[in-house]
Amino acid sequence: MNRTHTLLHRLIAVAALWPAVTLGQATAPAAEAKPAAEAPAPVEYSKKGADTCLSCHDDDHVNAIFLTKHAQPNDARSPFGKGQLQCEACHGPGGNHTKKVKKGESRPPMVQFGRKAVTPVAKQNAQCLTCHEKSMSANWHAGPHDANNVPCAACHDLHAAKDPVLARSTQPDVCYTCHVAQRGEFLKPYAHPVKQGKLACSDCHQPHGTTAEKQLVKSTINQTCYECHAEKRGPFLWEHAPVPENCANCHAPHGASNPGMLTARGPLLCQSCHSQQGHPSLSYGPAGLPGGTGPTVSTIVLGNCMNCHSQVHGSNHPSGATLTR
Ligand code: HEC
Ligand code: HEC
Ligand code: HEC
Ligand code: HEC
Ligand code: HEC
Ligand code: HEC
Ligand code: HEC
Ligand code: HEC
Ligand code: HEC
Ligand code: HEC
Repeated sequence: MNRTHTLLHRLIAVAALWPAVTLGQATAPAAEAKPAAEAPAPVEYSKKGADTCLSCHDDDHVNAIFLTKHAQPNDARSPFGKGQLQCEACHGPGGNHTKKVKKGESRPPMVQFGRKAVTPVAKQNAQCLTCHEKSMSANWHAGPHDANNVPCAACHDLHAAKDPVLARSTQPDVCYTCHVAQRGEFLKPYAHPVKQGKLACSDCHQPHGTTAEKQLVKSTINQTCYECHAEKRGPFLWEHAPVPENCANCHAPHGASNPGMLTARGPLLCQSCHSQQGHPSLSYGPAGLPGGTGPTVSTIVLGNCMNCHSQVHGSNHPSGATLTR
């Protein structure tokens, strides 16, 4: 028997000693209870709470809940706090689900969670929101996940000692189950170190919904970037207009094939805004060239625009107007 297993069972033993729930007053949310196809949904809470459930459901996955914040007997708000409904706080009243099933009849289902569960998503999430409505903030219902019927349990695994979505190193894989394209972006050669577990999606996005575009943690892309790259905020004596406007004018926020996570390489990036007329794309050629028809040497020959315009994010040098110093 491994250590985890022993620990689990010790916790179960502790759980069994907890005072049984007072069940007299507890009633089912009758208006919400949706009748299942085969059998009516259970309406009565079990007299012995979790013990009833564990008499049939006693495996490592189910028991792992005792290692989480949801099974804190000393936290009155927790499902296992004093006077709470334990398993049924989430799964709804056990009723006939917990009884022997007669031949030919099927066991009435409990509230089930996840993307594939028979319980409608609105009902699943309502179970969680009875306790979490406040901590979710007002924007959950305005966000794209609720609007697209994503259940809490698509992201959260509650029967696990560590909910993977809450840790930087394991969170991205949870998001990639639906956001497949983003996995590819973070695998590009120049990317934010999400793959390395240094950053998580939730460092930039609020998965519970916000009014900001793209569900960013701050109101704009730039405000989000300044959280970690504060030096790019300035103020600069000489600003480069596209920088305060939007970092994504030049950078792909997730990752890119170009060094520095740039959306295009070297001169091409600059030339997407700066025309070839006059100097901008062409530097002054070597002296003595015949014709005198203007600049003759491509900056591509001389190297990248940044070789001279090194202060591309803005300059504080008195003579940095052209971002060269
Ligand atoms: C008498 C045995 C028994 C008891 C007691 C019992 N269950 Fe079940 N439960 C089952 C069986 C068997 C299934 C398998 C599916 C079925 O028959 O509907 C099941 C299925 C479930 C499922 C769905 C599992 C899935 O695969 O998604 C949940 C959730 C559940 N039970 C929760 C509970 C909870 C919570 C309690 C306590 C209130 C409880 N059960 C008490 C026998 C029991
Ligand atoms: C805080 C809410 C919550 C509580 C409390 C809770 N569950 Fe669950 N349960 C879930 C969610 C969410 C899932 C979906 C899958 C997951 O998170 O692992 C689930 C899945 C299940 C399943 C189906 C998956 C499996 O492993 O077979 C069973 C059975 C189950 N729970 C039984 C129980 C029992 C028994 C208890 C009490 C000891 C309990 N649950 C307490 C939220 C809860
Ligand atoms: C009976 C009330 C109750 C219900 C129902 C409930 N929770 Fe909780 N939940 C809590 C409490 C209390 C905490 C601990 C909060 C704290 O420590 O500040 C918590 C914590 C959490 C956490 C953070 C865990 C951590 O390790 O930090 C998540 C995620 C969560 N709940 C999700 C859910 C989801 C999803 C559901 C529905 C399947 C659900 N909860 C149902 C009371 C509840
Ligand atoms: C799209 C994925 C996703 C969905 C859907 C989701 N969550 Fe979360 N949740 C997260 C992530 C990621 C975190 C960690 C946030 C962080 O670290 O800043 C989190 C954190 C939490 C916490 C811990 C406290 C906090 O706010 O940081 C609670 C409680 C919680 N979620 C409850 C819920 C409930 C209840 C639902 C459904 C109504 C839900 N979540 C739906 C991804 C999700
Ligand atoms: C069960 C599937 C699912 C999971 C898991 C999921 N999402 Fe989503 N997400 C969606 C859907 C559906 C939308 C709305 C449609 C869209 O924009 O693709 C959405 C929208 C978004 C958006 C807004 C996109 C926009 O264009 O405005 C962001 C940001 C996002 N999700 C981030 C996350 C993060 C971060 C996680 C993991 C913590 C996550 N999602 C997990 C399904 C999911
Ligand atoms: C460093 C910050 C940052 C991190 C980390 C991050 N994102 Fe984003 N994400 C952004 C920004 C900024 C945008 C908006 C891009 C735009 O509009 O040009 C965005 C856009 C999105 C979109 C909308 C799709 C689109 O093309 O507009 C989705 C979905 C998304 N991110 C999911 C994720 C997921 C999943 C993760 C984690 C695996 C993640 N993001 C990590 C900053 C980040
Ligand atoms: C939560 C912190 C965080 C946020 C927010 C953030 N970054 Fe980063 N960024 C990092 C880290 C960490 C690195 C990797 C630094 C390293 O490896 O030295 C990085 C690297 C970069 C690099 C590449 C540097 C190089 O040398 O290749 C660029 C460009 C960048 N970030 C731009 C952005 C932009 C644009 C945004 C806003 C969309 C943003 N960052 C938001 C933390 C963040
Ligand atoms: C006009 C295009 C452009 C815009 C807009 C832009 N950058 Fe950059 N950024 C660059 C270029 C070019 C480099 C590479 C410089 C080099 O290779 O020397 C770079 C490099 C970086 C680096 C890594 C090297 C360093 O200087 O730290 C970070 C971080 C960065 N940018 C963040 C940002 C942030 C944050 C914003 C928005 C406030 C932003 N950038 C807006 C062009 C831009
Ligand atoms: C998204 C468009 C855009 C991109 C990309 C861009 N710029 Fe600019 N740049 C501007 C705008 C707009 C101004 C302000 C022009 C003005 O004030 O007349 C400017 C100003 C400048 C100036 C100062 C000109 C002056 O007269 O003060 C220099 C130098 C410059 N950019 C260099 C670059 C370089 C080098 C790159 C590539 C790393 C680049 N720009 C990429 C839009 C862009
Ligand atoms: C060999 C160094 C060098 C290179 C390479 C270079 N520049 Fe310049 N650039 C300068 C200098 C010096 C000035 C200031 C000229 C002046 O004041 O007349 C300047 C001025 C500018 C101006 C302001 C022009 C104006 O009319 O005021 C822009 C915009 C500009 N460069 C864009 C670019 C772009 C885009 C590239 C790359 C395609 C580039 N430069 C490559 C040295 C260079």
